[in-house]
Amino acid sequence: MIVFRDLFLHFLQDMYYAEQQILKTLPSVVEATDNPKLKASLEDHIPETRDQIARLERTFEAIGEPVKGVTCEAILGLLQETEDILKETGGKGPVQDAGIISCAQAIEHYEIARFMTLTAWANAWGMEEAAANLQKALNVERAKNAKLNELAAAEVYGLAVVV
Ligand SMILES: [Fe+2]
Ligand SMILES: [Fe+2]
Repeated sequence: MIVFRDLFLHFLQDMYYAEQQILKTLPSVVEATDNPKLKASLEDHIPETRDQIARLERTFEAIGEPVKGVTCEAILGLLQETEDILKETGGKGPVQDAGIISCAQAIEHYEIARFMTLTAWANAWGMEEAAANLQKALNVERAKNAKLNELAAAEVYGLAVVV
């Protein structure tokens, strides 16, 4: 039987793996849109994701655990879905942009869910430095999700032809 700390560590490792997979995938998603604002927002998420990885590394260090990832099937599924949607929409334009935003938001929501749990647990157990890092990581994903909401409304849905 595992204890709470093991579960905390599992989700921390899960997010460490997830952020690395996201970092690998982002350049191909950036390439899939010509919308300047969406492209810029996705491009910005590359250094932001590198910072998230560094933040997670500091979190491992703060709790005296080795930096390690564990395969996260959820993120692999969400990234696969993103790739499938790019194939399905078959070319650049407002429909593909809407698909990209929808898939990116599914990923942001996954990250938000995990970072919320990790932050809450770190706070509950008095892991102050870890909690501060995780709260910052949570804020970054929330801000990105809010930005995508804005872009969807202003840049994509307003232009998409609904049939
Ligand atoms: Fe992230
Ligand atoms: Fe993100």
